[in-house]
Amino acid sequence: MFGRARAHAKKNARSREVIPSTVVACRRMSSLDFGQIPPDTISALHDALVAARFDDDLLHEAEGVAPRLLDPVRLPVVHAWLRARDDAGARIARLFAYADHVETAHVDDALGPALRRQLSEHGVLRQSDDGMRATIRIVPLCGLHIASDPMEAAGDPVMGPGAFTLEMAQLMPVTAGDRVLDVGSGAGSLALVAASRGATSVVGIDLHPRAAAVGRFNARLNGLSAEFLTGDLTAPVAGRTFDLVVAQPPFVVKPDEVAATTYLHGGAEGDELALRLCAELPAIVAPGGRGLVLVETLRDAAGIGSRVGQAVGDAPLVTISLVTPGTSRDLLAIGYASIAHPDLGDAYAAAAGHYWRHLAARDATGTLHVLVDIRAGASRTRPVAVRIDRPSMSGLTAEGLCEIEAGVDLALSSDDELLAATVCLAPGGVVTQSQSLGDGEVSLRLRWPEPVRGEQVLSDAASLVVEVAAAPTHVATIAAAYADATGSTVDEVRARVLAFVRGALASGLLVAR
Ligand SMILES: C[S@@+](CC[C@H](N)C(=O)[O-])C[C@H]1O[C@@H](n2cnc3c(N)ncnc32)[C@H](O)[C@@H]1O
Repeated sequence: MFGRARAHAKKNARSREVIPSTVVACRRMSSLDFGQIPPDTISALHDALVAARFDDDLLHEAEGVAPRLLDPVRLPVVHAWLRARDDAGARIARLFAYADHVETAHVDDALGPALRRQLSEHGVLRQSDDGMRATIRIVPLCGLHIASDPMEAAGDPVMGPGAFTLEMAQLMPVTAGDRVLDVGSGAGSLALVAASRGATSVVGIDLHPRAAAVGRFNARLNGLSAEFLTGDLTAPVAGRTFDLVVAQPPFVVKPDEVAATTYLHGGAEGDELALRLCAELPAIVAPGGRGLVLVETLRDAAGIGSRVGQAVGDAPLVTISLVTPGTSRDLLAIGYASIAHPDLGDAYAAAAGHYWRHLAARDATGTLHVLVDIRAGASRTRPVAVRIDRPSMSGLTAEGLCEIEAGVDLALSSDDELLAATVCLAPGGVVTQSQSLGDGEVSLRLRWPEPVRGEQVLSDAASLVVEVAAAPTHVATIAAAYADATGSTVDEVRARVLAFVRGALASGLLVAR
């Protein structure tokens, strides 16, 4: 479900939006009217989910079963694992998260007979030949429970949390009192995570006509307060501003032959909707605030940074595009086709071909996975765009993102401000030395324990700077040390050192202190 490669991109063909062939036969419909479920039933459901310990830890463990495989292949094994575990949490996970049938007596054990009857009465549970099935999906997310249409639902489902939702939830900085807008809120996941972290005013907007009702259901399920509106991008809140705008918009390419799905398709190129949103952000992000858009975009020469720059226009914003590798063309075609056709039959084969040819016609070898971070810096007069390449987005936290932003801001400051600033090697960085057996050449590398920063080969000059900045150090001190080591004057090396420090701050090698 939250397998790293999930979501609409289906990275590495790991998917939670597909279901095993055993349940394809009774594909669930996405038509439940969430608005007709009474508050006391929602409240009893919340209590039952909590009492059963159906939580993030359980989901994490279940997601560790046969990861990196398409759900049609892995779900029978996940079901077997949950059946062997057979506590109340596992039964609820089978019912609501993993589209399994559960014996009625076991549903009664997990939820209680009264709640089971209420949920059946309102169409949330259905009796089938082999037990009970749920018509909605519920998964834990950051301490909350989020209900949605099942992702495998026929029709046009309202999307619940996926891998990229979790990624955004982990990296979005929310400060108590923030006004937060979630654009394309789906089931309300990001909006409600923001509300749970102390945002005072939270709005979710979605084009899907049933999304607002699902968002309100989830607000009630979690005892949180948020406003859910229906409309196109930011149109319903025109004239209002927000401290944090988050969006995980649809970004899958849409071939002509494939039927449109609201949560999935972003246009023929995939990123059209995301770029349209970027163009609306300058008007909606408050001074000192930020807009975060998580998107996959086709690899192309023009580059996401310049396309975002064009979309944002002349607004005096600082835009950071954090770029990581996405998914190959072949795996995209497999993943996208398996979302609509999880039985992997003839329709799947046709759709996979449509997607593959659509991508090939655009010379797309795959995607880039990009976080666009647009900040309204109050004192700037012109737009600034920075692209940062990283091996992975995984492990990036809100604190890590703020550190990157602070580094970029310092890199953009004047020479005098930078010389007076204190910088430090990014926490956890270790310099290692290796020597080639062939020519005996020695290379120095900087490694971090977490994958998000990867590994970097250091030149002699860079290793000197890194050594000096192992503890918090003035940039002027680094320049003096470099001049001393190279037998030059500070005046002679200043420009070179400042250029290196700027690049190191923007790439995350050094951080501002
Ligand atoms: C990839 S889903 C993300 C849902 C949710 N934010 C999450 O992370 O779970 C994209 C969402 O954008 C919505 N959407 C699509 N086009 C939209 C538009 N023009 N304006 C607002 N929302 C839109 C879809 O209905 C869907 O809920």
